[in-house]
Amino acid sequence: MSDKRKILVQLDTDVHPSVFDRVVAIDAGVEELFSYGGVKPEQVQGLVHGAIFTRGPAELKRTALFVGGSDVAAGERLLAEVRKHMLPQFGLSVSVLLDANGANTTAAAAVRAAARHGDLKGTTAIVLGGTGPVGQRVALLLAREGAKVRVGSRQQEKAAQVCERLKARIPDADLEPVAAGDPANVRTAIEGRSLVIAAGAAGAVLLTKADRKDCSSLRTLIDLSAVPPLGIEGIEIGDKGKERDGIVCYGAIGVGGTKMKIHRAAVARLFESNDQVLDAEEVYALGQGL
Ligand SMILES: NC(=O)c1ccc[n+]([C@@H]2O[C@H](COP(=O)([O-])OP(=O)(O)OC[C@H]3O[C@@H](n4cnc5c(N)ncnc54)[C@H](OP(=O)(O)O)[C@@H]3O)[C@@H](O)[C@H]2O)c1
Repeated sequence: MSDKRKILVQLDTDVHPSVFDRVVAIDAGVEELFSYGGVKPEQVQGLVHGAIFTRGPAELKRTALFVGGSDVAAGERLLAEVRKHMLPQFGLSVSVLLDANGANTTAAAAVRAAARHGDLKGTTAIVLGGTGPVGQRVALLLAREGAKVRVGSRQQEKAAQVCERLKARIPDADLEPVAAGDPANVRTAIEGRSLVIAAGAAGAVLLTKADRKDCSSLRTLIDLSAVPPLGIEGIEIGDKGKERDGIVCYGAIGVGGTKMKIHRAAVARLFESNDQVLDAEEVYALGQGL
């Protein structure tokens, strides 16, 4: 067995590589952490080559990459670039995890929370704030699980674009874009839905108590916002499967414990082989096994 130290190369699009991601890396068993900030796509080739051309193919599973930063779209561009520069045909690749802004691990944890309260297949769900990086991933994972998913946005056209992109990935997905920007259309949007996951911007209230008081189909409410006022009125940030008026509720901290577990497990998983790409669906699958 190789006794080479476990090296994680952190490629962060922000000027200062995320302290949060660095702490999780160490807690996940990383022995050497090389952190690079302000990384641009044109700089990725050299960084990847440094990772894959040093150790022999048999030892490359002791080196891995983590792509992070607060801008999820920028992280996605880095991941695409990382993949271009691996040479798997020669065994020269290392595993990589994308978790820019915690989007993959947060979405996975939210959908895991929902799955604790019933089979997701056929579940009627709505993702409020469904056009953001977290919301899009939540919608993707719910659709993969066979849920009937409404994607909510203040602009229906934006939601429609998200649904189109998801349909291209999952042709048999049951997806419906809805406008959910004011009380009248929010009430219509949640009608008949049993699961609401709110993934709106920090500090934005997406669902008020008044908007949901006449909706008898609701069973589970999950809010990912940690910045008051919270995204779903009436939920407490620490709620973790807490029943309120007959509805199971989760707040951001209630989901956060699972998110942390998934994040650590995903980093640890990188060191099991040198050919993995852990994006939303892989991270979710990993969370299912925890
Ligand atoms: N617990 C954790 O570990 C963790 C980790 C990451 C993120 N989060 C939280 O998860 C949530 C989603 O993150 P994100 O990065 O995907 O969010 P985001 O991109 O900032 O916002 C998501 C969506 O919210 C809507 N929105 C923006 N401003 C709004 C406003 N003033 N009023 C109503 N809606 C508004 C937008 O959709 P439309 O324009 O289409 O309406 C946007 O696409 C955030 O609250 C974030 O803090 C938690």
